Formats: sequence, C-alpha cells, structure tokens
Amino acid sequence: MCGIVGYIGTRDAGPILMDCLKRLEYRGYDSAGVGVIQEDRLELRRSAGKIAELERVLGQRPVRGRAGIAHTRWATHGRPSAANAHPHSDCASSVAVVHNGIIENHRPLRRALESQGHRFGSQTDTEVIPHLIESRQGEIETATQEAVRELEGDYALGIISRRDPGKLVAVRSGGPPLIVGFAPDGLFLTSDASAILPYTREVLSLEEGEMAVLSGEGVRLATFDGRTVDRSPTRVPWDAETAQKGGFPHFMLKEIWEQPRAIRDTCGGRADLEAGEVRLADLGLEAGALARVRRIVLVACGTSWHASLVGKHVLESLCRVPVEVDVASEYRYRPPIVDPETLTVAISQSGETADTLGAVRESRSRGSKVVAVCNVVGSSLARESDGVLYTHAGPEIGVASTKAFTSQLAALDLLAIHLGRARGTLSPDSARALLRELADIPRLAGDLLGRADALLEIGSTLRTSASVLYLGRGIQYPLALEGALKLKEISYIHAEGYPAGEMKHGPIALIDRTVPVVAIAPQGRLYEKTLSNVEEVKARDGRVIAIASEDDREIAGKADHVFRLPRTSELLLPILTALPLQLLAYHAAVLRGCDVDQPRNLAKSVTVE
Ligand code: AGP
Repeated sequence: MCGIVGYIGTRDAGPILMDCLKRLEYRGYDSAGVGVIQEDRLELRRSAGKIAELERVLGQRPVRGRAGIAHTRWATHGRPSAANAHPHSDCASSVAVVHNGIIENHRPLRRALESQGHRFGSQTDTEVIPHLIESRQGEIETATQEAVRELEGDYALGIISRRDPGKLVAVRSGGPPLIVGFAPDGLFLTSDASAILPYTREVLSLEEGEMAVLSGEGVRLATFDGRTVDRSPTRVPWDAETAQKGGFPHFMLKEIWEQPRAIRDTCGGRADLEAGEVRLADLGLEAGALARVRRIVLVACGTSWHASLVGKHVLESLCRVPVEVDVASEYRYRPPIVDPETLTVAISQSGETADTLGAVRESRSRGSKVVAVCNVVGSSLARESDGVLYTHAGPEIGVASTKAFTSQLAALDLLAIHLGRARGTLSPDSARALLRELADIPRLAGDLLGRADALLEIGSTLRTSASVLYLGRGIQYPLALEGALKLKEISYIHAEGYPAGEMKHGPIALIDRTVPVVAIAPQGRLYEKTLSNVEEVKARDGRVIAIASEDDREIAGKADHVFRLPRTSELLLPILTALPLQLLAYHAAVLRGCDVDQPRNLAKSVTVE
C-alpha cells in the first residue's frame, strides 16, 4: 500500500504535492519521490527514507511546474532505494508514472521490453508501465489505454508526460483507491481524500476499470474501452485524521477490515490454480534444495510465533517433514541444533525484531538456509536471509498485529503447498483443491466481517473480566494463544491460551462465573474432544463463548454465546478464526477506554532484546 498524489492547475505544484504527500505517509514510508513538467522537461526527485529526506533533496534541487505527481512508497518489489522510488520514467524521460498496487506479470513484460531495447533502471514491477506507454503512439491517454491492456494485477496510476504537458492521467484497476479532487485553482489526484482536505472536500472516486484525464478543460472520465462516464463529485464529511483511518475510529479496526485485500494481495500472482503450483520468485531455494530439506525450524516472536505454530501443522501435513517451532529469544541462546539440511523459516511483520534477527544469525552460522516471511521489503531480516516470501499486507500501523498475522498464515500455506509439490508429498490435484479454497478465503473473510456486529455484544461481556481463558485444539490451539495475546495487549485483561486437552491438568481450577472461556470449536477431527471440554467448563458454572462452524446445531445448547465460522479446509480455517478473536479483543478494549492503536508499554517493532 503506497500513497499517490497529483496536481494540475494554476499554482506551483511542488509545494502542494509535498504538503499532501505528508498526509499519506501512514500508507508507506520507506522511500518517496516527486515529478513535475518544468518548461518542457520532466524533472524527477527521488530519495530513500521518509518524506523529510525528499524535502531535503528538494531544498537543494527544487522543481517548478504547474503539473506534477508524487508518491510515498511501501515497497513490494525492489528494496527501498532512490532508484526504486517513484515516479518511474521511460528511456526518453518523456513519461513519468506513480503506482500503488502490484503488476503481477511484470517479469514477462520486462523481458519483452528489454528484448525491444528498453533500458530499465530499477527492480520494481512499476517501471514496465512508462516503457509500455513509450512504445505507443498518440496522445498520452490513448497510449496509456493501450498499455494498461497488457497489465495484470491491481493498480492505481498517476501519469504525466512531456508529449501532453497539460494533462494528468489517472488509471484504476482493482482494489487500490484513486480519487480526483476539485479545487478552485486546480485538480488533484490522491489515494486518500485525507491528503487534499485542506484544498478541497469535493471529490470523485474512480471505479475499478476507469481512467480519467485531468486538464485545464476539467475531468474526462471513461472506462478502459473508451466509454464516457458521467458522475458528479461528492463532499467529504470527515477531518483529515478520520479520513486517514478511512472513516474507522482506529487503525486496528481499519486493518481488521483490510484483511480480505491483504490476503488476496499476499496470494496474488503466486498461485497457479490450473497447474496446482505455487510460484515464489524470491524464495532463493530451487526445487532440488527444497527436496533435500530434512528438517524445518520456524523462529519468531509474539503474534508471528503464533503464526509459526499454525505453520508447523500445515508444513508437516503437506510436506511430511519434521517441523520445530521456537521462540526466537530462546532459540538464539539455546544453542540450537541445526545444520545445512535444516531449513530455518523466520517470520516477522517488521523484519526488524532483534530476537528474530539473532535467531537467524545463529542458524546461518551453522550452515542452515534461511527463508524470511516478512511484510517489509528491504528490512534487515529480508536482507539477512537467503530468500524471502513477502506478505503484502501493506503498512500495519496498529501495534496489535492483525492483517499481518492472517497474511503470514496465507504465506505459510503457499510455502507448504510449494514445498509439498517440490517434495512430491502433495499431488497436483490436492494442491489445486487447496489453492482454490485459499483463493476463496478473502470472500469468506469479507462475509464473516459483514456479520461482525454480533461480536460487539459478545465482546462487551469480557469488559469487566479480570481474566479470560482461551481454548483450542490442534491447528486451532495457536489461535487460542493469539486470541489471548490480542486481549492482553490492547485491553490489559489477563488472558491465557491453552490446549483444550490440557485444561483439566490445571487451568480448570480457574473456572467459575467470573472467568469467561473462549472455546474455538469448529467441526472436524477434534470437535467432539473440544465439545467435551466445553461441557467440563459448563459443569463448573463457567461462561462459554464458542467460535463454531456455521451449521453446528449442537454447540448452541452448550455455550452462552456462539459466533459462527464459514466452512473451508481445516488447514486454512485459522485465517478465518483470527477475525472474531481480533474483534472480541478490540471491542472489549474500546469499551474499557483503552488506546487501541498505541497500547501502553508496547512498540510496533521490538528492535532491542
Ligand atoms: C503483536 O500484536 C505484537 N505487536 C507483537 O507480539 C509482535 O507480534 C512481535 O513483537 C513480533 O513482531 P514482528 O512480527 O514484527 O517480528
């Protein structure tokens, strides 16, 4: 998720673009750039790091012009650097493009363009776009229309060019938002209305499959096949801060609702449903090496450790290789027993967690290959690993990890399917079936969130509790841990996740009317076992909140509250189980007046031991 802004009008574009860009920094902050048409030249200024660094560059080499575009980046392809920052341009420096989203077929397009003599200056997926436009004739909007026909993936684009200096072209395909703003002295383009609110509240959102030409004559809106679209602007009711949260009261709730998109983007362009294959371009390990792996060690901290515990179930089930999971801060000082036949998989949202980095260095020093599952391109973990599997959750602002967690689960599912195919332990048919179910998870997650209001009432029953017990079995046990961690870290209520089968070996002593029990009990191999644990709680007058299957009639009679999960494969269900657990914690914390986005004593990335 990056931030795009554009301006064309009667004022100097540079200062306006920078002012707006700062309000988009929450969308990505690893590199930035601005481009304007100055006299008849294209002037680009780009830098790695935060927008303040770009301001410093502009201070030394200012730009002047009436039309321009700017971008703040959250890298997905190509590590954060000035060369990979946007805008990207073509060989003749005549077209400049800023992009939010992912061009899934950028590799074959790049190969074709290079064979036609185009020279590339970055590692990004984006740079294919200005070269594609360069290789077309006619007005900028016509050339753009032809170029986007070749693109696969989700993208929002802002385009300026020397061939039509009086035009700013906007293109939207798929998820990434793109908004046109109408101000007295010019027209704006932005990923988020919050960026331009000081200039105008009159906005018009582009729908998927639309492009717009902004010029002195106004805005021309059309579909990709050229059909004119007539739609009037609307007025934004929010202030800038609320708008950055997309109208949500907290970044955490916004990020919970972003999960369908985050999971879709994490799987996007990697699953070949026909062949039953998974393509992981940056894994850094070819099939032969994967087949020789004798053991896998998963290392991580906090919520990422919980994802690792789910990963163990999926990897062992699909790849039939022994998998060990370790808390990174323990693993690094054990010392660990690993060797060149051990694959170490390190999982981290930030890629900067000190203990996870320490664990990786331990593994590497013993000859183990390391694959990182990470959400930040170019982070220390990504740089220090042999290969990387990026989650595409976009920046996660809320300290409590939500969309990064479910994206990690989806990434681990892809890794397990890839490894299972490489090791011959997973048939193409089984892989196809799993990939189809995985492709359907974003829809099921969206439907589930559509029924989320019920969790407000259930969450409110936790508000006054001093302690809450979470129970789960098998692949759902790590979700019990995750549910408990979410509640602890944002509501400050003590909570414990426990393997349901372990309850009678101790925690059952805690059970009475005052200690709610969240039981994760979807139908499946372990359902009957978990149901008997629910009965043990009820027999001691406990209060049960059940997370159960959509058509389970029996559990309703045994639990005080039931929230239902849609049906999917047992291996993929943890992705969906996470959502009600996140929302239960969120509602309890909000009702207790806690600072949900920045809970006390916590940091988004723990870079010290
Ligand atoms: C989770 O909500 C917490 N923010 C924390 O436990 C986090 O998961 C842990 O610090 C690991 O962070 P990482 O994924 O960035 O390495």
